Amino acid sequence: MSLSDNVYIVNFFSIYLSDMARVLGFLGSARKDGYTVKVLNEALEGAKSVPNVEVELVYLLDYSFGPCTSCYECIRMPEHRCIQQDDMGFKGEGKLWKKVEKANGFIFAAPVHFWSADALTHTFIERLYPFLWSGELKGIPAATITVASNQGFQIVANTMLCEWAFTMVMKYVGGLPVHVAYLDEALPRARYLGMKLGEAALKDEKEGRKAPTDEEIWLYYQDKPWSVFPNYIENLTMGTRDPKLSIIKRALALGTFKRKEAIELLKKADEEFDNYAHYYSLNDYENALKSLVKASAFWTHATWKEFLEEQLIKAPPPKAYRPLEGTST
Ligand SMILES: Cc1cc2nc3c(=O)[nH]c(=O)nc-3n(C[C@H](O)[C@H](O)[C@H](O)COP(=O)(O)O)c2cc1C
Repeated sequence: MSLSDNVYIVNFFSIYLSDMARVLGFLGSARKDGYTVKVLNEALEGAKSVPNVEVELVYLLDYSFGPCTSCYECIRMPEHRCIQQDDMGFKGEGKLWKKVEKANGFIFAAPVHFWSADALTHTFIERLYPFLWSGELKGIPAATITVASNQGFQIVANTMLCEWAFTMVMKYVGGLPVHVAYLDEALPRARYLGMKLGEAALKDEKEGRKAPTDEEIWLYYQDKPWSVFPNYIENLTMGTRDPKLSIIKRALALGTFKRKEAIELLKKADEEFDNYAHYYSLNDYENALKSLVKASAFWTHATWKEFLEEQLIKAPPPKAYRPLEGTST
């Protein structure tokens, strides 16, 4: 056997046994040489500095995909894939979909448009909907970057990206809201964020992805830019933040829900929301959060039974979605 044969064999094994982690950086800006890509590139360099991490910059505009069409086929089919004939569809054969499912970490880099994250990034996130049902992305590390150059609102936009990562049960590693007025300061921070994301992605590859429970992820996001308290409370109390004025109590009092199963779930949601309010009043935030997670799961399933199951989706919620096991009162 010659030396070159040995080199070939070593290369073969280093490729196949190296446990390379893959980080994808999604650029929402149409400007391939703009400000957002500058920050994203720095973050990707940071990720690449972690041994055994490879990175790819994904120009979202180079792929063909549009908004979700609300067909709900991804919920009904057992494989939970998208049936649109585009790069995020073809029942899991889409070009971009294939990249997404092989990744160990994401960086979402959004330019600030209309004081918010840009529409392309939002559209892309929307098309990740099938993964919500399969649960495959639960626990994947994610980082976010927002870049503004005019009025600003990069912080609002970043909070929005963090909220989307929460809804997808992603492990939020960190976020970097940037205005180009402080680009010099932002670039080293982007590199550091990328490095942290790279390390988390490597762990994802080496140790395997562990889907967090709802309770774990809700707690995890408590110190992130988008946190459960007070946002989720505002949502369930129709903006009042007063538990006595919850949307659940209103529905029970006015008989808004008609289906027996839905009403039963609603009653359980109400009990758990009362428990939340009780613990919260005692400053027992840990138990308050536990009760809130349960209330939210019951509420989600109640609304599914009442409004979605027959009218819209024509299927029960998939197993991975807001599991009720262990949530009984
Ligand atoms: C439709 C549109 C809306 C925008 N809205 C905002 C805004 O709300 N705040 C802001 O600071 N910049 C705004 N901008 C400017 C972008 O933030 C600017 O393009 C920024 O540098 C993003 O990075 P880029 O160079 O990758 O495009 C907007 C740009 C576009 C095209």
